[in-house]
Amino acid sequence: MKKLIYILLLVLLLNSCNKITLNPFNELIKDYPHNPDKLYEYENIYNESSNIIYAINKVNYPLFLTPKSYKFLAFRSNNIFFVNTNFSLNKTFIPQSLIEINNVDYIKRTNQTMLIDKETLSAYTKLFNASLLDNIQLTVFSAYRSYEYQESLYNKEDNTFVAAPGTSEHQTGTALDISNINTGLTIHFDKTKESLWLQNNAYKYGFIQRYPKGKEHITGYPYESWHYRYVGVKIAKIIFEQNLTLEEYFYQYIII
Ligand code: DAL
Ligand code: ZN
Repeated sequence: MKKLIYILLLVLLLNSCNKITLNPFNELIKDYPHNPDKLYEYENIYNESSNIIYAINKVNYPLFLTPKSYKFLAFRSNNIFFVNTNFSLNKTFIPQSLIEINNVDYIKRTNQTMLIDKETLSAYTKLFNASLLDNIQLTVFSAYRSYEYQESLYNKEDNTFVAAPGTSEHQTGTALDISNINTGLTIHFDKTKESLWLQNNAYKYGFIQRYPKGKEHITGYPYESWHYRYVGVKIAKIIFEQNLTLEEYFYQYIII
């Protein structure tokens, strides 16, 4: 009888050890900012998703993926800016990394120099050279835009595709409006071979299509076939392969 009780106790002990090792939630949660009163909520989401970062963000920032819900300062994490309708840049913010665009095709406007983030230009130059080899002709229509310039665009009559001043990624110098010279920044770019090429290849050079079709409820913007954002090759590849928006990427991979 005693033997049987020992065996039973041993089985129970092994079983509970097994449960602890199978679900690392209790260990993982310790490393992240969390509200101890909501442990049950974090754990439920973790059990469904196996993604501790997603669980933390989903409980801590339930409205993050809902456009126009919060007003926060834009932030920089893992070396990339997060700017959208809810996260805005200060009026005075000007990136230190701006240089004049060169060695790629772009629209030249009188009395206006086109500026761009240095690393973004270096990555775009590689993309541009690769596109030429495939007989694709891309032109940059817009790169860095100051707060004031964005404001002047926003105050024009038709601002459907224009972010409010402070909430445009163009102010970081890492967003580019790219099109073919004939269609320009219109809905007609979408069906061109240039657009298809960009959709399939931009990520290899670190660029993502930032306002994709079908994700308008997340990005807060209508589909923009021409607006590409430099985020680096590693992140662009994840976003491309998993069909994410930058919002979803931050929610799942970066503690916000
Ligand atoms: N077209 C995008 C939303 C911008 O103005 O930044
Ligand atoms: Zn744009």
